[in-house]
Amino acid sequence: MKPFNNSINKLTSLSDALNTIFSEAFRTCGLDSEYGHVTISQRPDLSDYQCNGALAAAKGAKKNPRLIAQEIINIVKDNPIFTSLTIDGPGFINIKLSDQFLMNQAQLVCKGEYATLLSSNSKKKTIIDFGGPNIAKPMHVGHIRSTVIGDCLQRLFKFLGVPIHSDIHMGDWGTQMGMLICEVQSGFPNLPYFDANFEGPYPSESPVTISDLEEMYPKAATKCKSDEKEMLKAQQATVELQAGRKGYRALWQHFVNISVASLKEDFSQLDVTFDLWCGESHYHDQIPEMIKSLKQNNLAVISDEALVVPIEGENEQEIPPLMLVKSDGGYLYGTTDLATIQERVSDFGDELILYVVDKRQGLHFQQVFLAAHKTGIANSQIRMEHLAFGTVNGTDGKPFKTRAGGVMKLKDLISLAKNEAFKRIEEINGAEKYDENTKSDIANKVGLAALKYGDLMHDRQSDYIFDLSKFTRFEGKTGPYILYAAVRINSILTKAVEQKLAIGPITLLNGNERDLLLELCKFPDVILNAYTYRMPSYLCTFCFDLAQQLNRFYLQCHILKEQNKDLQSSWLGILQLCFFQLETTLYLLGIEIPDHM
Ligand code: ARG
Repeated sequence: MKPFNNSINKLTSLSDALNTIFSEAFRTCGLDSEYGHVTISQRPDLSDYQCNGALAAAKGAKKNPRLIAQEIINIVKDNPIFTSLTIDGPGFINIKLSDQFLMNQAQLVCKGEYATLLSSNSKKKTIIDFGGPNIAKPMHVGHIRSTVIGDCLQRLFKFLGVPIHSDIHMGDWGTQMGMLICEVQSGFPNLPYFDANFEGPYPSESPVTISDLEEMYPKAATKCKSDEKEMLKAQQATVELQAGRKGYRALWQHFVNISVASLKEDFSQLDVTFDLWCGESHYHDQIPEMIKSLKQNNLAVISDEALVVPIEGENEQEIPPLMLVKSDGGYLYGTTDLATIQERVSDFGDELILYVVDKRQGLHFQQVFLAAHKTGIANSQIRMEHLAFGTVNGTDGKPFKTRAGGVMKLKDLISLAKNEAFKRIEEINGAEKYDENTKSDIANKVGLAALKYGDLMHDRQSDYIFDLSKFTRFEGKTGPYILYAAVRINSILTKAVEQKLAIGPITLLNGNERDLLLELCKFPDVILNAYTYRMPSYLCTFCFDLAQQLNRFYLQCHILKEQNKDLQSSWLGILQLCFFQLETTLYLLGIEIPDHM
């Protein structure tokens, strides 16, 4: 056997490697290397990959495309990674990879060091802004989207060796804080927080609990919506809070502390962590300095009594200016976002800033990014991306609500998913052998898998229908289905160990496992595409395809009963690789595999 082409003897994206081989061949023929583009085959019965460039090249070269295709094949055919190269139709090249290559590559792909997949200069220092819960307002399904997508991306970037840190960027500084202050005051007017002459110290215990806050917020919000006077009062309290009124700050600090403690519980249930827990308030003191400098440099101007940064979109597209200071002197959401960029860039040296936020905030981020570049707060090297996501709808097609029509709280959503998973587990054969603790541990993992996979499998930008009963099914494209595939491999491998069977080496191929190996070899491509397009759904599709291939494989190959020991150990070796990839992909999706199911 000839040694493999060195370019593929290391962890690499298979399509990149094939592209390189074919591009070079086109160049050698005096044709544009662009024609060497290789894609996954549309006809898996005929080939693994295909290259269609000869057709396009033929026009310019005024040559028969089949002749060009033949020339290309003559150049690359001795490469041992191919087992056959044939011409189809008017000049498509069908590429079939050799079994030996697939075996080698599948092992490389599983053992590889993924931090080497990207070049070091493409690894920009990155910050990812996601979660974005608002203090005292319960988190809703929109926040869960931001959280699971953001967490998946932070895991993926780390896996690829990209230096990344995450920031929750809590909303802790808006009018809702003033509303709450007024609400507490109307219930307990004698608390020292409202006495402007109080010298302190303020009580160290919060006068309200998190459930009080959660109850008070919707009440206060409704009051302010229907009563202009109440709204003015809340706005006034917000302005005073921001200006540093001591009692308000002390009360606000209680709100923040109890909310953060409860948020930390929610996020730990979801197994999501943040490096920074900065809120909008964190940037407040930096704003006056920023505004002063923008004014001095004529970058911010007065328009209709407000201070704004005028911006122009590409191709003279009209974009409203970014408002920094309202006519009443108050700062806005965008003002904080601009100050946040300033800190991220100058203090942390971040070069890439990712925002995982609802697509309805698209214009806001467009304004903020353009303003940041225009004012030089972010120089042209700094890249900011709004990773927008769609709306979560209920089965009625309208934005997802509780049965009572309110906002579904994250906590309740998680319990709902876990309960639904528990019911499903009770229904499966053999469930009676598990005690309650084991069952509830499985239900926790399966419930979260259902929730996260149900979200992540959808194209990030599209809306989707939140259908818990569909997400918790054990068949179809669901989290539990994928978990089951992993658990099943695990159980086969455990039995193999008990029966003292050899696991690997991967040597013999009888043909049935070839599709499985081909699937495994796509892993680096999937990872790279998910990274390039910031698309967790690619990872979901990959594990679903792998699970489907596994099921086909089990139908044809009765692993534990196989008499040919070499074949059996090879199959077990392949299963081990599949487990590794499922485990890795699920880890990237933030999903944990239970021991049983
Ligand atoms: N708190 C905001 C919301 O609930 C999301 C914050 C997003 N991040 C940002 N830097 N603007 O919509």
